Amino acid sequence: MKAETLVQLAKSLLYEKALVKLDGKFVGAVAAISDDRDHQDLNYNEIFMRDNVPVMIYLLLEGKFEIVKHFLNTCLRLQSDQFQTKGIFPTSFVEINGNLVADYGQRAIGRVCSVDASLWWVILAYIYVKKSGDRTWASTFEVQIGIQHFLNLILHPTFRDAPTLFVPDGAFMIDRALDVWGNPLEIQVLLYGALLSAVGLIQVDIEEKGYLDSGSSDDLSNPEHTPENIFTGKQFYQKSYAIAWLKKLRSYMLKNYWVNSRIVQTIRRRPTEEYGDSVANEYNIQSETIPHWLQEWLGEEGGYLIGNVRTGRPDFRFFTLGNCLGATFDLISPPQQRSLFHLMYQNQSALFAQMPIRICHPPLESEDWRKKTGYDRKNLPWCYHNGGHWPCLFCFFVIASLRHRQHQLSVDSVVIDILLHDQYELLLQRLPQQNWAEYFDGPKGVWVGQQARLYQTWTIVGFLLAHHFLKVNPADANIMDLPNLKVISRK
Ligand code: GLC
Repeated sequence: MKAETLVQLAKSLLYEKALVKLDGKFVGAVAAISDDRDHQDLNYNEIFMRDNVPVMIYLLLEGKFEIVKHFLNTCLRLQSDQFQTKGIFPTSFVEINGNLVADYGQRAIGRVCSVDASLWWVILAYIYVKKSGDRTWASTFEVQIGIQHFLNLILHPTFRDAPTLFVPDGAFMIDRALDVWGNPLEIQVLLYGALLSAVGLIQVDIEEKGYLDSGSSDDLSNPEHTPENIFTGKQFYQKSYAIAWLKKLRSYMLKNYWVNSRIVQTIRRRPTEEYGDSVANEYNIQSETIPHWLQEWLGEEGGYLIGNVRTGRPDFRFFTLGNCLGATFDLISPPQQRSLFHLMYQNQSALFAQMPIRICHPPLESEDWRKKTGYDRKNLPWCYHNGGHWPCLFCFFVIASLRHRQHQLSVDSVVIDILLHDQYELLLQRLPQQNWAEYFDGPKGVWVGQQARLYQTWTIVGFLLAHHFLKVNPADANIMDLPNLKVISRK
């Protein structure tokens, strides 16, 4: 099919079939378009936060700011005010007989709770304000109190000193048991992005209120304890706490998650059973946990952020979304980004193959699959989350690599261009043929996922985004640029 025809088809699927209305206005898109509106398939008729991330980014590029604002406001309305979960945003919501019903995990299969939705809301809110220029919205009490409740969830005392967010299994896009409990990469990278965004949004409010010139919380040492002063005092406090957290998180991630060939060789030779303040092997990792496939996977120049850091049990699997977002949010430095793209290029037969991109590599197999997934038939090796290929992920790779290229011309950019071009052609050919399936199975991603939904919204919109960045306006790849840590630390 010709690119232009396919773009028109994808656009009409989005605007005419996937987007749904609330209070008479478009509010977001269902996860998958069903043939039969009366017979809804599980919860794929709901509006998921994470599935709507590409949708909202696309709508921002199309200048449809009202829809994005309505989406953000609706999620804000649904932000939990229950004692135990106060401040979290719903994984998904749906209107049933005139009532807005939200799922925070209490209705989900296996009762998994999504942590990524809360982190994504703040990031999307920041991107919306930056792109639309709607600072007035950012400065409303509703938005700022929503951010305060969100930050209260994260910036509070805990039993651990590590700056990472400890979560149960299946707390993000991988929303089933897959041994991704603890400190999975995607959550930590989203946490980094969400804290940057929260600081950026608080800053907008401080500027709008004219506190900028006096510059610090000194203004608020004013003993007059009016509700406004208490509120703004909390904003200043949370902002500086968040910046301190961000710095700690970034250096922690670079120290504990980033690996390349040199680092692996160092960690293999570290002592174990150390105790005290300055030790080489803080998490008491035995060298046997380091898999042999890493040698070829990393090669001489490759590098990436590993999947999880836990006492004695690091997870060396490669997770695509966490790595791409780590580059997009500049959690990893420009030279590290170059090593990441180098690694992805050199492992393209595993990651891209016949459908970009594999969600994680390698899959859990045999006893690992049985024990760690609990015999999950949806997550058989090389299927679904367990090594399946998800076309919706391609646009995140496109954003990360184009953005990197805009900032740093590197020798590798030519090979990445070829890769991007080839993968785009593959999508063009295969997606309409396979009815915009949700995911693809097998070592090469040839087979349509055994239980994949067809006409999956983020597959459709992921293609529209890839088309936009690669064929219409590559400069728009800066849409996900977040505040720069160095700059906000100076303010
Ligand atoms: C599946 C995916 C999840 C997605 C949902 C709706 O549960 O694992 O990431 O949000 O479907 O598409």
